[in-house]
Amino acid sequence: MDTRCRVCSGTVREFIDLGRQPTANGFLLPSEVAGEFFFRLAVGACQECRMVQLLEEVPQELRYHAGYRYHASGSAAHRSHFENDAKRFLRTELTGPDPFIVEIGCNDGVMLSTISTAGVRHLGVEPSGDVADLARAKGVRVLSAFFDEQTAADIRIRHGVADVVFGANTICHIAHIASVFRGIDQLLGPNGVFVFEEPYLGTIIEQMAFDQIYDEHVFYFSVTSVKEMAARFGFELVDAERIPLHGGEIRYTIARPATRAPSESLAELLAQEQAGKLSEEQTFAQFGSNVARIRDDLVTLLTDLRAEGKRVVGYGAPGKSSTVTNYCGIGPDLVPFVCDSTPSKQGHLIPGSHLPVRPPSEFSDPYPDYALLFAWNHSKEIMAKEEDFRASGGKWIRYVPEVEVL
Ligand code: SAH
Ligand code: TYD
Ligand code: ZN
Repeated sequence: MDTRCRVCSGTVREFIDLGRQPTANGFLLPSEVAGEFFFRLAVGACQECRMVQLLEEVPQELRYHAGYRYHASGSAAHRSHFENDAKRFLRTELTGPDPFIVEIGCNDGVMLSTISTAGVRHLGVEPSGDVADLARAKGVRVLSAFFDEQTAADIRIRHGVADVVFGANTICHIAHIASVFRGIDQLLGPNGVFVFEEPYLGTIIEQMAFDQIYDEHVFYFSVTSVKEMAARFGFELVDAERIPLHGGEIRYTIARPATRAPSESLAELLAQEQAGKLSEEQTFAQFGSNVARIRDDLVTLLTDLRAEGKRVVGYGAPGKSSTVTNYCGIGPDLVPFVCDSTPSKQGHLIPGSHLPVRPPSEFSDPYPDYALLFAWNHSKEIMAKEEDFRASGGKWIRYVPEVEVL
């Protein structure tokens, strides 16, 4: 099934279908299973501007609300990454008289709390109530709203123009991307920058990180498609650099045309994407068949382990765990529960597949034979923390870039 591109209205041609899926952060109580929402999780590429995007989308109010359970401060790596981002802005873009920074999707204030402590004017725009309150408790000023053209106009009237508009793991979530760019146009000062850090299509394809595909990720950006998108909306992509979050992302910097010199790293990444045929149909087709192979390998492994009487527990309940468990049909019969450090996920079920989420204390009580690492992007932090598991004979299972027992 084809659909219209959200950037340019071109035709989006489907290349992968991950089946009937729930909203990935819709952790639910056993009593809520009956009313669960599902949609068809499929991705395609625009035949005109090459933007990779979901075919169907989940209304934003079903994804982001008071019960949204993703806490950006949930890992030490993320806390230090965003503290460094804030410090960099404080050293660079926010040094003029009375600077102002707006963050789209500030979540629990992981980045803006450092800005607030420095006494710099800021505003977080965050529609999810509970995480917004966590940010407020850290001294961050938050507007409870979805960012769009109207919100941007209101902010401009109340606060004036911004030196920086920032977003992390949020801009690719917003289906009304044209309205976002019209809002940036209203809000950004003449010399301002729009900086966003998002999952990278190149990483997803290279590392076979198909579990990055879920309802919240409406777009799968590449440097090539973001350059084209910025130009179509009257801006210029001036920098792109790789950053390590979520297995490998890109930080994009967009400015008003001809206000900043394009960076070398931008040119290098564009050249790499071209050489690697990142936006070509054959690459997407190959990706689709590799994903199906990973599913078959993982289901075979888990079924064999069950037949041998081995105990397998999941480690981490990221949004990604919803994609992989629902796509592969992994239920509590194969993985009886998953441990996760996020208090608001504990006692709930992973959406769709309904694996129970329990506190990390249950991991060692007693240790399972195998741990299926859903939070694979945090493997260093987790394996260091769980050294005793391996010492006691436990084994880790990874499934990206391929199924492997470690
Ligand atoms: N910036 C954090 C959080 C990412 S989660 C990090 O990088 O870890 C995405 C956040 O964007 C959620 O908190 C969600 O509520 C918020 N969000 C989703 N749509 C939004 C919109 N249109 N405007 C502002 N925030 C939005
Ligand atoms: P993350 O990969 O940050 O997010 P996403 O939902 O975008 O895929 O999620 C990691 C999850 O793993 C999060 O729910 C917290 C959990 N976690 C642990 O349980 N223990 C840990 O040591 C770490 C680092 C994370
Ligand atoms: Zn397009």
